[in-house]
Amino acid sequence: MQSAHLPQPLLLQNKNLKRALVPFCSQAIAIFLLLTFALTNFSFMKLDTKIIHAGVQPDPSTGAIMTPIFQTSTYVQQGPNEHKGYDYSRAGNPTRTALENSLAALENAKHGLAFASGVAATDGVIRLLKPGAEVIAAKDMYGGTYRLFSKLWEDFGIKFIYTDTTNIENVRKEITGKTKLIWVETPTNPLMNVTDIEAVAAIAKKSNALLCVDNTFASPYLQNAIDLGADIVMHSVTKYLGGHSDVVMGALMMNSDELREKLFFIQKSCGAVPGPMDCFLVLRGIKTLHVRMQRHCENGRKVAAFLRNHDKVKTVYWCGFEDAKGYETAKKQMRDFGGMMSFELKDENVAAAIKVLKATKIFALAESLGGVESLINHPATMTHASIPREERLKNGLSDSLIRLSVGIEDADDLIEDLQQAIG
Ligand SMILES: Cc1ncc(COP(=O)(O)O)c(C=O)c1O
Repeated sequence: MQSAHLPQPLLLQNKNLKRALVPFCSQAIAIFLLLTFALTNFSFMKLDTKIIHAGVQPDPSTGAIMTPIFQTSTYVQQGPNEHKGYDYSRAGNPTRTALENSLAALENAKHGLAFASGVAATDGVIRLLKPGAEVIAAKDMYGGTYRLFSKLWEDFGIKFIYTDTTNIENVRKEITGKTKLIWVETPTNPLMNVTDIEAVAAIAKKSNALLCVDNTFASPYLQNAIDLGADIVMHSVTKYLGGHSDVVMGALMMNSDELREKLFFIQKSCGAVPGPMDCFLVLRGIKTLHVRMQRHCENGRKVAAFLRNHDKVKTVYWCGFEDAKGYETAKKQMRDFGGMMSFELKDENVAAAIKVLKATKIFALAESLGGVESLINHPATMTHASIPREERLKNGLSDSLIRLSVGIEDADDLIEDLQQAIG
């Protein structure tokens, strides 16, 4: 508003306001500069501090400590292509930039890119490849990843070879001159199989293939795959990073500038980007990642022990048991074992499993995982229904398998709920 056009009283008010605002603004700018200096240098921070501060700075125009939701599709330019770093929100948005910086910091990566969902992020990685390329992927992984690979990308001339990546020799055996990518999910959804990331990274490096690790189940709090040699880390942000079951989002983190440029080009060209409101929600969710994960791990340990001692339960799949197949590797590459687990009843028929799935009162029967509330799921008909039955059974995923995402409620209540449901 130009002061020449203001009526007198308003002009006075305007002057007073300016006088009052000048010291406030200089103070705000000084605080902002100080905080910016402190908060951009997060390499010295321990994980819990990084989770709260890394990548996020107070808003330079107001000093707002929380990143504003820049709910805008476009940005005014001073002249054609003369702007402040943003021209259109598909290519970039300040709320998304803050989130992408935070995501990168959490995985000790140089770059982060946010996508509209976990599968959109996965899709972005496959778009790096050309027809004729071969991908070695885990046999046991999220059903939607398998669907994307087998039902969509195979038609475009990408060959996917599925193998048990928990045995490193299987990966080595499948390498050919055409192998361009190794896709590992660890621990896997839903059988909690663990793959040695460092060992696969060594194979990938030797054969000039990229290694992408789906780190969704562990979250950056429990495992950092870039530190272990992965080229790209993928997350379904929908899960532990968001943490409150209110957002669908995916992310890729990487160190290489070249990979970042290629993936950024894919992100902006294909346009599967999250909106600023969702980015804000995830920024808020991330701030409690460490305290949520600590409780997920604590409750997970108690629920897993309860199930294992239950006389109607045949098998519990949780990588924190000392006699679990992947325990030693999990111990080596994870900080703790998390709250995801699956189990089978001794009565292996599907009807018995469905009875349990319908009987819980605190565990809600729903797809997804990683939220503060506990969820129960039937992979065969829900999350993994897109995998052909024979394929699923071959990989050890039975019709009666039940998956739990143990939340952060009181563990005694959760155990009581499972006790009354299993009987
Ligand atoms: C391990 C894993 N990876 C990827 C995805 C896909 O993520 P989104 O549902 O956010 O697209 C999921 C979803 O459940 C998952 O569990």
